[in-house]
Amino acid sequence: MSLVRDNIATMTGYIPGEQPDEGSVIKLNTNENPYPSSPRVLEAIQSVRAEQLRRYPNPDARAFRQAAAQVHGVTPDMILCTNGGDELLALVFRACVGDGDKVAFLDPSYSLYPVLAAMQAAKLEILPYRINGEKWEFPPRIFQLDAKLLLIVNPNAPSGTRADLATLARIIHGFPGVVLVDEAYVDFAPASALPLVRDHANVILLRSMSKGYGLAGMRFGYGIAQASLLAELYKVRDSYPCDAVATAAATAAIMDQAYAADTWEKVKLQRAAVSAALRNLGFVLPESYSNFVLARVPPGANAEDLYQRLKAAHILVRYFNLPGLTDKLRITIGTAEQNAVLLATLEKFLAR
Ligand SMILES: Cc1ncc(COP(=O)(O)O)c(C=O)c1O
Repeated sequence: MSLVRDNIATMTGYIPGEQPDEGSVIKLNTNENPYPSSPRVLEAIQSVRAEQLRRYPNPDARAFRQAAAQVHGVTPDMILCTNGGDELLALVFRACVGDGDKVAFLDPSYSLYPVLAAMQAAKLEILPYRINGEKWEFPPRIFQLDAKLLLIVNPNAPSGTRADLATLARIIHGFPGVVLVDEAYVDFAPASALPLVRDHANVILLRSMSKGYGLAGMRFGYGIAQASLLAELYKVRDSYPCDAVATAAATAAIMDQAYAADTWEKVKLQRAAVSAALRNLGFVLPESYSNFVLARVPPGANAEDLYQRLKAAHILVRYFNLPGLTDKLRITIGTAEQNAVLLATLEKFLAR
């Protein structure tokens, strides 16, 4: 007899990207912001007092909710803070999906989704992207779904492509369950689905402080939804998911919009340069609205082999041994210097 539920015994857990110790590696594998967080973040961390650590933190990260509400033009009761965006996903699955319920998501998208679905013993409705060279399109089936939960990463990971607001509105309008729009990378994109939250009680946006605000090491994320939906999620969360230090750091980061926006602009400029250079080398990639690109390797090259050779040269990118992705590399946009080394190294490998 297994010590755990049958679905846990038979499932495979999530495999995070490699996180080497700090050193001379050029790390372009887990979509971190190449620029550090606002200097105000370290000041905020340094000003945390021992008394704040002795006591439990504010259970709903009130300071952050107020700051985020102001940034997004919503009320604080439309913000729910979590221990990274990943915890928001766990809460939504826990609250919305039971044994045998149906969960729908696009493929390829965030590889954590099937893992969370397996934990709930859910049924999967996988919606394959229609991929045609540089074009990634939703399958028509997405407009006629019946499921408890639909997850849409926008901009998508790992492709970096995005759907417009009108398309999302059409999907949400016809969907009976909860739609989670995963906006972990929206800071690098032209628009958010925020206007849809105001009109739809079944929509929740996922936001992450890991990418846009350079705080992956802190673990802080949040959801934006109507208060009625968030009230249900509050019921299934831990007592104090956001610690005092992370809340101080995230609050300082979101309040310094000018600093964060400057890093987004720099990433977008580098994204355009890296995309053009990769195309010149023979890679095929859809236009990215994120802080990474998904590049199909040139004819004659092997993606896994390139990944290994880059790794041996101390450059980490992401290779997914998954259907539809085995001929591609996902490359996080780094600083100008990091990108230059990556491109020169790729050029050298491909010339051989
Ligand atoms: C699509 C997507 N959603 C959500 C997350 C969760 O981000 P975090 O838990 O770091 O906030 C990630 C992280 O890589 C992601 O790629």
